[in-house]
Amino acid sequence: MIILGIETSCDDTAVALVEDGHKLLHTTASSQLHSNTGGVIPERASRMHIEVLPVLVADIISRMNGEKPDRIAVTTNPGLIPALLVGVSFAYGLARSWDLEVIDINHLYSHVYANIFEHPDIEFPHISLLVSGGHTQIIKVKSPTEMEVIGSTLDDACGEAFDKVARMFNLGYPGGPIVSKLAMKGNREAINFPRPMENSKDYNFSFSGIKTAVSNYIKNNKDSLSVEDTLASFEYACVDILIRKTIRAARDFKINTITLSGGVAANKALREELLSYNNEFNIYVPDISICGDNAITVAGLAFYY
Ligand code: KG4
Ligand code: ZN
Repeated sequence: MIILGIETSCDDTAVALVEDGHKLLHTTASSQLHSNTGGVIPERASRMHIEVLPVLVADIISRMNGEKPDRIAVTTNPGLIPALLVGVSFAYGLARSWDLEVIDINHLYSHVYANIFEHPDIEFPHISLLVSGGHTQIIKVKSPTEMEVIGSTLDDACGEAFDKVARMFNLGYPGGPIVSKLAMKGNREAINFPRPMENSKDYNFSFSGIKTAVSNYIKNNKDSLSVEDTLASFEYACVDILIRKTIRAARDFKINTITLSGGVAANKALREELLSYNNEFNIYVPDISICGDNAITVAGLAFYY
């Protein structure tokens, strides 16, 4: 079964053709630039999807030798409504003209699916730490289509905190990749930023306090500020709390396999910290190319529906 996947939930426009859930036939994607706006503006993002999506779909159709796919899959929620609407309208219009069924895909499920895409024999249930710009959750993954959220952020998402800290230093958007690059040159033990909710019995997170602590630290240390040390210590505070809670959840639920997913799963420090538990758990981290928003995992997951 060949499925055409469409993803427009935020600022990436992406299409992919995937066979039987795991075999990538073709994908193309286009990322929007935000250097002059400092973040994603939903209205602007949706206008750019309108321009780009028909071009990407026409290109992928031209590679199908006159055949049509068996189904169309599209991200329907959560995400920016004006952005989602472009992909959803396009998918349903195309499906009508081809007389095909559309499979609606949850954006968070498709992030988690990245590891299942790469490892069709992965054990269920497993735990996935999903860390993106909009969400931070610990999820019990019972099958590709059955997920139970067991912990969640109570305020900012982790990726959002990376983006806001980047903005404090005028580093551009998205901030995560730049912060993590500079953090590699710093000392992660230099500043002891708080680990909010580290002793709470649940699996929830809070990132707004870490962000405020960084802002206060910058204000109070203007003369002796090391950008690299501040970013390394901020990143370590996030990684430390994320991984400790995830490991605790896996131990409490007696689950042996842990995966990482979402845009922040591209973070090197986070990947390394989780992988350091590979003597106790089976750990999977997805290839960087499918950590962030993409259509491959949309088309892949749809196979299981
Ligand atoms: O999953 P994603 O592509 O979009 C959402 O669904 O939100 O995640 C985007 C988020 C942004 O906040 C971005 O700054 C963050 O992922 N990110 C990173 C890294 N690469 C992307 N954060 C930390 N380190 C990275 N290397
Ligand atoms: Zn995402």
